[in-house]
Amino acid sequence: MTPKIARFLRESAPATPCLVLDVDRVEENYRRLQAALPLARIYYAVKANPAAPILERLVRLGSFFDAASFEEVEACLAAGARGAAVSYGNTVKKERDIRAAFERGVRLFAFDSEEELAKLARAAPGAQVYCRILVGNEGAEWPLSRKFGCEVGMARELMLAAGEMGLDPVGLSFHVGSQQTTTAAYEAAIARVAMLFTDLREAGVKVRLVNLGGGFPVRYREAVPEIEDFGTAIMGALAEHFGNALPEIIVEPGRFIVGDAGVVQSEVVLVSRKAKDDPVRWVYLDIGRFGGLAETEGEAIKYAIRTPHDGTAEGPVTVAGPSCDSVDTLYEKSNVRLPLRLAAGDKVELLATGAYVTTYASQGFNGFRPLAEHYV
Ligand SMILES: Cc1ncc(COP(=O)(O)O)c(C=O)c1O
Repeated sequence: MTPKIARFLRESAPATPCLVLDVDRVEENYRRLQAALPLARIYYAVKANPAAPILERLVRLGSFFDAASFEEVEACLAAGARGAAVSYGNTVKKERDIRAAFERGVRLFAFDSEEELAKLARAAPGAQVYCRILVGNEGAEWPLSRKFGCEVGMARELMLAAGEMGLDPVGLSFHVGSQQTTTAAYEAAIARVAMLFTDLREAGVKVRLVNLGGGFPVRYREAVPEIEDFGTAIMGALAEHFGNALPEIIVEPGRFIVGDAGVVQSEVVLVSRKAKDDPVRWVYLDIGRFGGLAETEGEAIKYAIRTPHDGTAEGPVTVAGPSCDSVDTLYEKSNVRLPLRLAAGDKVELLATGAYVTTYASQGFNGFRPLAEHYV
């Protein structure tokens, strides 16, 4: 909670649920990452939060952008970014969206399959393309599993094919999973990518770019390594595996840039028990899984909850959203404890909710309005 957010909540008393996000904190996070990885170009992963005030601030700072869809490409352009500053990083794209992005000046595209490469060759002739390889996601609290990327052997074949199809096979990418809590995940992935990089160079492909993806974590309830620790580990691994011939480096941070810049304020709708002597209370908030807190699925992301009674006696709780759906239960097994004095009408804050919340919010599940957003 930054002083600006605290002041806004105090002075404006906005209707809940709402996200309040401090755009100055976005800038601080961007600058901190830049200092931790000075050799890397930062492509902000727009999917984490595509709000115009964030994109506009990042354009002013000289950021590049990672877009997951043509709509995100358009959002970047509307915020003042040049097409050439946008990477179309999703490996699953419609051909007409590739063409539309290419026509708007986008020249850098991801792929991980033969069919996608054929689409790129037709719709974005001559474009720079990078192949995403599968890497381990251990240590990530929001892993991306095997949905994206391909095995190294296939990546090699596809990179060779890309050149033959008139594309510019510029490099390789990976993603170690979101909310990655270990620096070792990047070290292992860099080692994997470096071997293929060398192999491709020897095969005559002019690879020159390594895209390290996103994954840098935010502090929720538990401490995580600092961004400077990631910077040191990554630079060490790059030096070890590439020596003096360092490739161009790209990072695509989403969560790290906006996560701790935002706070969701919510109202307690009900506190109840399932039996009179049940020690566990159910706390129902006016925001839940469908209101934007999708990353509580499997209790993966554990948001810290601030209440007006912090510091007083606490007891165990199950935290749930307001809708008539049992999936809309946020924390049942994560040992959440909240003050015994908590009651309906209290305002609580879910901290570090600037990433992956507003865009996950449903359009009106059970009639609830989408999450309100305030950028300060
Ligand atoms: C291709 C790509 N880049 C970057 C990101 C951003 O990851 P994070 O928010 O963990 O930094 C994602 C997240 O899903 C992604 O799929």
